[in-house]
Amino acid sequence: MKIAIASDHAGFELKTGIADYLRSRGFAFEDFGCGPGESVDYVDYGAKGARAVVSGACDRAILVCGTGLGMAIVANKFKGLRATPCSSEYAAEMSRKHNDSNCLTLGGRTHSLEQALGIVRVWLETEFEGGRHGRRVQKIRDLEDENFK
Ligand code: RB5
Repeated sequence: MKIAIASDHAGFELKTGIADYLRSRGFAFEDFGCGPGESVDYVDYGAKGARAVVSGACDRAILVCGTGLGMAIVANKFKGLRATPCSSEYAAEMSRKHNDSNCLTLGGRTHSLEQALGIVRVWLETEFEGGRHGRRVQKIRDLEDENFK
């Protein structure tokens, strides 16, 4: 599994901590920016991370802004992305088991590094349950076919 990571300036520090964690756990990942000391628009960097998943270059994305909310809005504009802002390990677990989340969004101003790494760990380790949840995720794909031109 290869993971795209990206942030704006408000998420940069937390993204750096997440990158250190992924490296220490042996996960393959690519950082799509931003870099240190930049002030950027979260939309541009969320789009970079989301495009990496749409293209198949990466399997999942972790996107960080101030709250995780703007990044989720952006990522969910991309067909095939199921971006979930997670405020707890429970939410991260459910986002994988029930929603087959392929994009985790977090906030540099709302999550401590310790909280974020707990959420990332659970999100990476939890499998999708399928079954009735597979039927529901398929309905999301059907909505994409209907609404995404
Ligand atoms: C940047 O100040 C902030 O608006 C952004 O990081 C994000 O929280 C938007 O949703």
